[in-house]
Amino acid sequence: MSATPSPVLTPVLSDNWDAERAWTLESYESLGGYAALHKALGMAQADIVEAVKDSGLRGRGGAGFPTGMKWSFIPQDNPKPKYLVVNADESEPGTCKDVPLMMASPHTLVEGVIISSYAIRANHAFIYVRGEVLHVVRRLQQAVAEAYAAGHLGKDIHGSGYDLDLVVHAGAGAYICGEETALLDSLEGRRGQPRLRPPFPAVAGLYASPTVINNVESIASVPAIVANGAEWFSSMGTEKSKGFVLYSLSGHVKRPGQFEAPLGITLRELIDLAGGMREGHELKFWTPGGSSTPLLTAEHLDMPLDYEAVGEAGSMLGTRALQIFDDTTCVVRAVLRWTEFYKHESCGKCTPCREGTWWLVQTLARLEAGQGTEEDLDVLLDQCENILGRSFCALGDGATSPITSSIEYFREEFLAHLSHGGCPFDPAASTVFA
Ligand code: NAI
Ligand code: SF4
Repeated sequence: MSATPSPVLTPVLSDNWDAERAWTLESYESLGGYAALHKALGMAQADIVEAVKDSGLRGRGGAGFPTGMKWSFIPQDNPKPKYLVVNADESEPGTCKDVPLMMASPHTLVEGVIISSYAIRANHAFIYVRGEVLHVVRRLQQAVAEAYAAGHLGKDIHGSGYDLDLVVHAGAGAYICGEETALLDSLEGRRGQPRLRPPFPAVAGLYASPTVINNVESIASVPAIVANGAEWFSSMGTEKSKGFVLYSLSGHVKRPGQFEAPLGITLRELIDLAGGMREGHELKFWTPGGSSTPLLTAEHLDMPLDYEAVGEAGSMLGTRALQIFDDTTCVVRAVLRWTEFYKHESCGKCTPCREGTWWLVQTLARLEAGQGTEEDLDVLLDQCENILGRSFCALGDGATSPITSSIEYFREEFLAHLSHGGCPFDPAASTVFA
C-alpha cells in the first residue's frame, strides 16, 4: 500500500503502514507511538497551538486553511464546551488518502485527536466517518477502545488532569456531509445540509459551541509536529506550502497508490514513482485534487504541486487526488460521469446547484451522444456561470470545474462528438469511464 523508498519520499504518516499489524496499539507503541502525547501533556496548550501555527501546516481536506490559525479562533473566554470534530467523510472523486491512513494506522489519528483536543481545551471529540466504509468505522472503534484501555483517553489522562472522550460516528453516505457545516447538522442528528457561514464553526459549530473541524490527514500530522518540532516540518515543502502530504495516484499509471512526499513535488516525479504511464500511452489530462478541481494537462507536468503554483495554473491543489487519464480516455465522457455524480449528490438546498446540475447533465449527455449542436457548448458555459459563485456551498462551484476546464483544453473533442455523431473513442481501450 505504501510507496517504494525513494529520495523524494518522506514517509512520516505512512512510515509504519507496512509494519506487522500496524493498526494495533502494540505495534504503534513499539514504533514510538504516543510518545508525542506524553510530550504534549507536559506542554502548555498555547505552546502547542503556536507550534502548529509555526509549522505552517495547512488543512489537508482540500481548502488549505492554516490549521494553527483555525485553532486560535476558538474563543477561550467562551464558557460553552469546545469540540474537536475530525472530518473523515472522504468522498471527493479520486480521493483515497484518509481511508488508507485510518485502516493502516488508526492510532496516528487517535493520538492526533488527543493532542489537538488538549491544545484547544476540548473534552469531547468526534471522528465523523463516511457511512459506506464500515470496515474503517470498526477499525477506528477498535483503536479508540485500545486507547481508553491504555489510559490515553478518558479521565485524567496519564495523571495530567485532562479528560477527553472520543466518539467514532458513522455518517449515512451523503457526499454533502463532507461539507463541514452539513457534517455538523448530520452529527447533531439532522438531515445534513450546509449552514450559512459566518458564523464559522470555530465560533458556533457543534451544538452552537466553538468547534474545530479538521481533516483526518491534518490531525494525523500533529503528533509528528509535536514530536519533531515546527522547524522540522516547515523545512519541507515550499515557501508557503509547508510539510509533506499524501498524494493519491489513480487511473492510467502502472502502480497506483498513495505516495507521501513534500509539497512542491511535480506530477512528473510522482508518475515516475508510480511506475510511469500505461505502456504505449501518454498523459492526456489529470485532476490535481479530485474532480472538483479544474483539469490540467501534460503542459503542467513540471509544475510544483503546491497551493500557489496550482492556483496560478487556474486550478486548486485540493485533496491531491491525482486522477491520471491517458490518450484513450474521452474527456467528455469523463466529465459527464462526474457531473452525474454532482447532480446525484446535490443536497437540493439552493436553486443554482439543484436545478443547474440537472441541466448540466442534460446538456452534456446530449453532446456526448453526438446529438447536440455547437451552441450547446455556450449553453453549458452559461449554465456554469449561473452556478459558479451563486451556489450556497462549494459543491455547486466544484461541479462546474471539470466542465469549464475541459472545454478550455479540449473544445475540439466536444465538437468531434458532433461531427462523429457520438463518441469517437473506443470504450474498450480505456480502463476508466468505459
Ligand atoms: P473554505 O475555504 O471555505 O474553508 C476552509 C476552512 O477554513 C473551514 O474549516 C472554515 O471553517 C475555515 N475558515 C475559513 N475562513 C474562516 C474564517 N474567516 N474564520 C474561521 N474559520 C474560517 O473551504 P470549504 O468550503 O470548507 O471546503 C472546500 C474544499 O473542500 C475544497 O477546496 C475541496 O477541495 C474540498 N473538498 C474535499 C472533499 C474531500 O473528500 N476531502 C470533498 C469535497 C470538497
Ligand atoms: Fe446543496 Fe448544492 Fe446548494 Fe451546496 S450548492 S447547498 S450541495 S444545493
